[in-house]
Amino acid sequence: MDRLKFNSPAKINLFLRILGKREDGYHELASLFQAVDLMDTLQIALSTQDALTCTDPTLPTDQSNLVLKAADLFRRKTGLTCGIKVHLEKKIPHEAGLGGGSSNAATTLWAMNQLTGVQASTAQLVEWAAEIGSDVPFFLSQGTSYCTGRGEKLLAKPPIALAPLWIVKPLFGTSTPAVYGKVSLANLTPRDPLVALESFYSLKHHYFNDLEAPAFEVMPELAEVKSLLLSAGFTTVLLSGSGSSFFCIGDATPPTIPGCRFYPVKTVHRLLNDWY
Ligand code: C5P
Repeated sequence: MDRLKFNSPAKINLFLRILGKREDGYHELASLFQAVDLMDTLQIALSTQDALTCTDPTLPTDQSNLVLKAADLFRRKTGLTCGIKVHLEKKIPHEAGLGGGSSNAATTLWAMNQLTGVQASTAQLVEWAAEIGSDVPFFLSQGTSYCTGRGEKLLAKPPIALAPLWIVKPLFGTSTPAVYGKVSLANLTPRDPLVALESFYSLKHHYFNDLEAPAFEVMPELAEVKSLLLSAGFTTVLLSGSGSSFFCIGDATPPTIPGCRFYPVKTVHRLLNDWY
């Protein structure tokens, strides 16, 4: 069977506020997520059994890959037994705070729903997606969402255009659990996330990320990268999620920083019944 091609976008967090620590060990957060057009692609066809190939040889292609975890979940929820054959072209760096693996999982759920004709509702897919990871539901949104809970509760928001926008990925990555492990609730600035949300639909955008200081503790080199980016003239430089990527806004020429890769990006959205 011919494989169909599905884009799988990255995300940035325009603000991310940690509200507390939960009994299940996760952190309660409030964050404005935005999809961007730095995208992987998945070529997917139904098959008798699962098979995954990937352009990035450092990624596992067994059942531990989120693509095949999503396939398992879809089968469990629907009672279907079909497999999928997937070729994953990786462009989104990993350990980057850009949600690449989560996006691939959401794309797989969407694609399987289309290819099998099951026609589960998007709300249903969102609910299933939360079982794979906190960021997976967001990628089933239309591209801009205010996310709460551990990140899995979505409130759809109007698109936000940001230009010029860059993603900067340092050579080294950060581990999400390690960064969350450094969060000190007492040290957080008590900002109101709803005021921050409102700011994105008025003239003054209010960017912040409560995971930035903990990530700098885990990897002090990140603070140096941030100051070099600010010195280059970007007006906003903020860590995305738990890092190690930054997004940068402003009219600046990307400086040469050893090991850093710059990606020019645009915010991206999808129509209600279409994929990205
Ligand atoms: O949900 P996910 O598997 O992506 O989370 C990875 C890790 O990130 C969790 O095990 C936890 O350490 C941390 N995390 C958290 N609070 C969140 C989301 C993630 O502490 N809201």
